[in-house]
Amino acid sequence: MSENHYTFRIQRNRKAADGRIDSRWVEYPVSATPTTTVLTLLEEIKGEQDGSLTFRQSCRSAICGSCAMKIGGRTRLACKTHVESVAHNGVVEIAPQANQPVLKDLAIDIGPFFTRIHAIRPYLEDGPDTDLVLEQSAYDQVNHVTQCILCGSCYSDCVMAEVSQEFIGPAALAKAFRFVSDPREGQKERRLEQLSHPHMMWTCARCAMCVESCPKDVKPMEAIVKLRTRGIAKGLKDGPGPKHALAFHHDIQKAGSLNEFTLMMRTVGILGTLEELGTAFHLMKKGKVPSPLPHKSKGLEELAKIYEILEEHPLDVETKAKEVVPE
Ligand code: FES
Repeated sequence: MSENHYTFRIQRNRKAADGRIDSRWVEYPVSATPTTTVLTLLEEIKGEQDGSLTFRQSCRSAICGSCAMKIGGRTRLACKTHVESVAHNGVVEIAPQANQPVLKDLAIDIGPFFTRIHAIRPYLEDGPDTDLVLEQSAYDQVNHVTQCILCGSCYSDCVMAEVSQEFIGPAALAKAFRFVSDPREGQKERRLEQLSHPHMMWTCARCAMCVESCPKDVKPMEAIVKLRTRGIAKGLKDGPGPKHALAFHHDIQKAGSLNEFTLMMRTVGILGTLEELGTAFHLMKKGKVPSPLPHKSKGLEELAKIYEILEEHPLDVETKAKEVVPE
């Protein structure tokens, strides 16, 4: 296969004496076949052009997760990414993972990410919810979520992590789902109750960036949605998150569309709505004024049929392999 010329535009980061990170972009020319991995070319640059370039790698097989970095604007494993797939006009832009402290160049401090993983207690606990019968379907679901290699890609691309450093993040929540789903776990209800606290499962904005960036197809967002469903099924309906979801559900079932005029009130109550009046006025100034009059969508009969079917055959919110295992 013939070789192409690429320019690697790499963000070089260095900690200054006052603790701030000094960033600059440096370009390195490389030649490679289209299927050469980005990691191979980073090693070539380090070996032949600039030995001070710092990045992490270990297994070279998409297993250890250490080479996750921003490549072409999205977090990917360098050892799994072919150079041609991320080159724009021959330029490959590389930066460290986002939402995590940078140590040097492309190496980040993965410590805070693992603190989040430890916060959900990633081990089976004794307790009253233990079921000693382990069916194949339960195993499949648990097995699927444990494909996570803790590379941090989902956290790096998560828009809510960008907004709030307190958010526990998609990887920790996917791991929490693994324990809530395991029949052997004894503290399922206690876990769900803790996952209902602020900055946990209800903080996710369902942007699906974690689904897109996960190199192992773990689909953290789907796990988060299932955790929420289980929480509501167990009666954990307090707080803006579940109230918002239930208000959505009510409107769609009854009218086929949202009543945005009252949605805020039903989500955060009167006080919360008053606090958001500034935002409401801002939206009104931009012409985004929801109608106060409830209206029904066309095709409500179809919707009623869907609800009827779902009520006759409710989704099993407990362990069920085919809900999450890809076809
Ligand atoms: S080097 Fe291990 S995942 Fe890339």
